[in-house]
Amino acid sequence: MEKFVIEGGMPLKGEIKVSGSKNATLPILAATLLTDGVCEIRNVPKLRDTMTMCKLLRTLGKTVEIAGNKVTISGSANTHVADYKLVSTMRGSFCVLGPLLAKLGKANVSMPGGCVIGVRPIDLHLKGILALGAKADFEGGNVIASAPKLKGSQMYLGGTFGSSVLATANVMSAACLALGETIIECAACEPEIEDLGIFLNSMGAKIQGHGTPRVVIHGVKKLNGTSYKMSSDRIEAGTFLLMAAAAKSDILVKEANYDHLWALNDKLTSIGVDVKKDGHDIRVRCKKTLKPANIVTHPHPGFPTDLQAQYMALMAITPGVSIITDRVFPDRFMHIAELNRMGAQIRRDSGSAIVEGVKHLYGAPVMASDLRASAALVIAGLVAKGKTEIYRIYHLDRGYETLDQKLIQIGAKVFREKE
Ligand code: UD1
Repeated sequence: MEKFVIEGGMPLKGEIKVSGSKNATLPILAATLLTDGVCEIRNVPKLRDTMTMCKLLRTLGKTVEIAGNKVTISGSANTHVADYKLVSTMRGSFCVLGPLLAKLGKANVSMPGGCVIGVRPIDLHLKGILALGAKADFEGGNVIASAPKLKGSQMYLGGTFGSSVLATANVMSAACLALGETIIECAACEPEIEDLGIFLNSMGAKIQGHGTPRVVIHGVKKLNGTSYKMSSDRIEAGTFLLMAAAAKSDILVKEANYDHLWALNDKLTSIGVDVKKDGHDIRVRCKKTLKPANIVTHPHPGFPTDLQAQYMALMAITPGVSIITDRVFPDRFMHIAELNRMGAQIRRDSGSAIVEGVKHLYGAPVMASDLRASAALVIAGLVAKGKTEIYRIYHLDRGYETLDQKLIQIGAKVFREKE
């Protein structure tokens, strides 16, 4: 295993480029199961998660060629059984369920189970495919679904915590090959769903309203191959904006889509950070002491849960008190203990974290617990006094492409070493 060693306090300056979106790439790769045609997908981030999805597609019968950031997928799915070992390492792989069911009439996919950010149910995925006329059973920890032919229907996909991104992806993909019309009410509005809709339409699907709470899909007989460029990763971009604010820097975040980040940009502006759209990039400047501000995470276009931990790292060094509440994953607070090891003053109060900003964080050995918590520790390490060692950085490698190299380019002192 590897660790990051960060020498804190280096001034950060210059340009940093955002990679393609991980969370959009996963359901798009899965959706290639819907066709026997050739799909060429460009700007795919080379990450552990995207490579796991490529491996999974190969085990399902597809031919997958990877050349730099281009992935070409051809051939046909020839088995409906998704390998447990691959699915269990990554929740995102559950989005092969809908495409397998639609293309082969059956799917056997391991249940993703819980993870450190909280319980991760699948009831909305099942509700969606049952509404399309499928049968579903559980056996040996797997979901076994079948339907000789899916039939379009109208359904409500809202749950206790709002819409579900991957349930929307699963149902939207499956409904493309269903008979007749499907309407998803309370669909997830995340930009990743918009991306998936554009991709599916480029394959010949007939989808309207992707990116809004009401998605209408007219089933077609067959989907074709396509060529598609992934849009940029809004969570990586948001992480860089928060990093720049914490390090009091002037940074141009290249290929960051301002329109995907309104909730964050608005919050940063309100606390004193200068965030400006600059063509296809975002310029972030922060010179003064910031004001603390509360956040509550919500599904898009609300403040993203995937930026909650990184925002907490910023508030940890912002004088005053802020309250951070996660309404999407109410238990997603593993990073509190690690930030406190670096001198932060954060306590948990039921579904919220109460942060009392301190003057300085201090470098310490810390443990990455999940992907976004790890990003929060990187931000903390970059602004801390002294040396921080972040263990288990395989979490970071799941979602941030060559992060150490990107940070070195803007002046950070980050070393990747063997643990
Ligand atoms: C996706 C993202 C993840 C992000 C999350 C929320 C990918 C690969 N992952 O995960 O990074 O944090 O969206 O923006 O795209 N829920 C149910 N029943 C279900 C499914 C979900 O109650 O069947 C609940 C979840 O527990 C959670 C909320 O709905 O409280 C949102 O989860 P969901 O949008 O499904 O997350 P994912 O799609 O798994």
